[in-house]
Amino acid sequence: MIKRPRVICLMMTSVDGKILGEKWGDDKLVKILKESFEKVHELIGNKSWIVGRTTMEKDFTHYAKPVHKEVDQVIRREDFVANRHADSFAVVIDGHAKLGWNSSDMLGQHVITVLTEPVKDSYLAHLQEIGVSYIFAGKDSVDLKVVLEKLTALFGIETLMLEGGGHLNGSFLNEGLIDEYNQLLLPLADGRMETTSVFEIEEKNRKFDATLLQLQEVKQIEHEVVWLRYKVLGQV
Ligand SMILES: NC(=O)c1ccc[n+]([C@@H]2O[C@H](COP(=O)([O-])OP(=O)(O)OC[C@H]3O[C@@H](n4cnc5c(N)ncnc54)[C@H](OP(=O)(O)O)[C@@H]3O)[C@@H](O)[C@H]2O)c1
Repeated sequence: MIKRPRVICLMMTSVDGKILGEKWGDDKLVKILKESFEKVHELIGNKSWIVGRTTMEKDFTHYAKPVHKEVDQVIRREDFVANRHADSFAVVIDGHAKLGWNSSDMLGQHVITVLTEPVKDSYLAHLQEIGVSYIFAGKDSVDLKVVLEKLTALFGIETLMLEGGGHLNGSFLNEGLIDEYNQLLLPLADGRMETTSVFEIEEKNRKFDATLLQLQEVKQIEHEVVWLRYKVLGQV
């Protein structure tokens, strides 16, 4: 049995389960509705979070290009813990080192990036220079169980907010690694056929037919947003 953080997924959706808020335009009420995500994140109160590479570059690093520092020696593929004692952490799965970092801080949280071994030495050298922590979680692909195990062992993370996007959520769901699911149902419909939904799993990788949930709480919060909280029972 691995020692891993409790994983609480939080997502904000349209009534049809779509998650791409940037497609919903800039109407004043839509903006207000979208603010409910941060409010509920604060209310749940667990500050460390994990997102996929796409969410990080779209919503946080704003497509910054990877930075490299030339080095003439090989850097061993060992985990680099720049700060174990931060109050909270911002974790991202970026196996192919596509993200650009200029600071080890993201909105007050210490950055931990999850890489795979083929990344360049010069990328690692830059992360070390600016104090971004990194962990390896697989040779060529990312093993999420290893990620969680290392987040607890190396950084003492006991609870982790899983906050999208659909592909990362789907990977966690597929591996049976989500303990609690919180959905903020906004009073709006999307209706796009191709738009990402909360959990995206490629059919060839799917390990189960469905995941059963148990409803724990239903709350109506500001602006007719419904906050659903489920315990994850397991896969069938
Ligand atoms: N409504 C909400 O509450 C909410 C919350 C968060 C995000 N979002 C939105 O969701 C959208 C992004 O969602 P998305 O599904 O396209 O992307 P995503 O899940 O954020 O990121 C997907 C990428 O993360 C990496 N990744 C994810 N799972 C992995 C795994 N198991 N192993 C290895 N790498 C993995 C891969 O990066 P590589 O391709 O580099 O390998 C993959 O392409 C954004 O528009 C964002 O704004 C909405």
